[in-house]
Amino acid sequence: MIIIAAVDRNWAIGKNNGLLVAIPEDQKLFRMETEGKTLIMGRKTFESLPGGMALPLRRTIVLTSKEDYEARGAEVAHSVEEVLDLISMTPTDQVVVAGGASIYRTFAEYCDEAHITKIDFEYDADTYMQNLDEDPEWSVTQVSDEKTYFNLIYEFVHYERKNAKKY
Ligand SMILES: NC(=O)c1ccc[n+]([C@@H]2O[C@H](COP(=O)([O-])OP(=O)(O)OC[C@H]3O[C@@H](n4cnc5c(N)ncnc54)[C@H](OP(=O)(O)O)[C@@H]3O)[C@@H](O)[C@H]2O)c1
Repeated sequence: MIIIAAVDRNWAIGKNNGLLVAIPEDQKLFRMETEGKTLIMGRKTFESLPGGMALPLRRTIVLTSKEDYEARGAEVAHSVEEVLDLISMTPTDQVVVAGGASIYRTFAEYCDEAHITKIDFEYDADTYMQNLDEDPEWSVTQVSDEKTYFNLIYEFVHYERKNAKKY
């Protein structure tokens, strides 16, 4: 499985159930890296999507504890086991862990790749993912050139991890 996230200097990912910033090149990369694949996301992230519905050209699985939850264009799972059951026939390199923080934490052990957009700024935020640089299991395998969007500096960092748990 592959983690995809955009983080600031403190690994912040969101505020008020929204993203911290929208960088067009990052959005384009997200689309390229997720189209045709299966996305796992938490109920809060799902509800923050444009129109409150699944993104096109992707299979989406939404995790919630709400019994009768309906998610437009997506499948709903009520436990980690149910998610794993739904993806049991899907190859691991076709499954993207798309957040938020609770989902990154829960599924990290199944992930062997992470595509992190690192934004060189400290946002006022309320949601943070785990810092992969502080986790000895993860190592950086590729870093893009430094990029800019107006006065923001960011880069695409690719991480790998051995011994991901099988599902
Ligand atoms: N920067 C990025 O790349 C990025 C990516 C994605 C999201 N985000 C941001 O992250 C924030 C949302 O993250 P979050 O951690 O607050 O929320 P989240 O992970 O999107 O959703 C949390 C919800 O998922 C459900 N859930 C999680 N684990 C579950 C389990 N084991 N069993 C059943 N249900 C489970 C629960 O839904 P119920 O309450 O319905 O039970 C829980 O309240 C937003 O600000 C969003 O914009 C940022």
